[in-house]
Amino acid sequence: MPANLKKRLILALDVDERSRALDIVDRFGEHIDIYKVGLELFTAQGPSVVKDIHGRGKKVFLDLKFHDIPNTVAKAARTAARLGVFMFNVHAQAGSEAMRRARDEVVAFSLKEGSPRPLVLAVTVLTSQNEEGLKTELGVQHGLRTHVKHLASLAKQSGLDGVVASGQEVRMIKERLGDKFLIVAPGIRLSTSPPDDQKRTMSPGEALRAGADFIVLGRAVTGQTDPEKALEQICMDI
Ligand code: C5P
Repeated sequence: MPANLKKRLILALDVDERSRALDIVDRFGEHIDIYKVGLELFTAQGPSVVKDIHGRGKKVFLDLKFHDIPNTVAKAARTAARLGVFMFNVHAQAGSEAMRRARDEVVAFSLKEGSPRPLVLAVTVLTSQNEEGLKTELGVQHGLRTHVKHLASLAKQSGLDGVVASGQEVRMIKERLGDKFLIVAPGIRLSTSPPDDQKRTMSPGEALRAGADFIVLGRAVTGQTDPEKALEQICMDI
């Protein structure tokens, strides 16, 4: 795996057993440095699984999508910083105060401890949502792209490092908010794979060419019968 690509790939550990998660890390360790611990694995195994991944010399994206009142989000952010994760996220819909306080907490913690500051990202609109769902279920009338743009701007104004958004919105966000504002793109699929429950998918090559800083690989790799071959195909696509 070329070094410039290796630092942009995030592999999702969407399993509930510690041994399965660590097997994936060991299996892909040569190619992938960043592993995503999401709701399923964290709920089953707790923070110690993050420590186990760190113990293997790997970075963790803690994908718990904090969405609560500012005080609770700020305290959870401090806990994430204490765990030493590489990045974590909050929902932009929690609002600017929650985002600002999350950022302030990690800055204060890292300064006090002299430890590297985790990147703090905001989830804009989940990649499993589409324009229709946003309108009819969530009552957002002004269109999905406008909403993503609005939430990404709010995240930037709140001092966050970047957002989680679909590859389909990467160009628009970069044009509006600049190249340094990071974008993590999940919902990555090769044209030959089914979208599953994702609605706004993109191929790995397209997402990176559009300017995504990181792409999240989930079922496109770990859901395949031959995950190593699937990763190879993804590299060819890129
Ligand atoms: O298997 P799949 O590629 O759909 O996995 C995508 C991963 O990225 C899942 O772990 C999911 O929780 C996460 N994610 C997402 N959409 C977001 C944020 C995170 O799909 N907006």
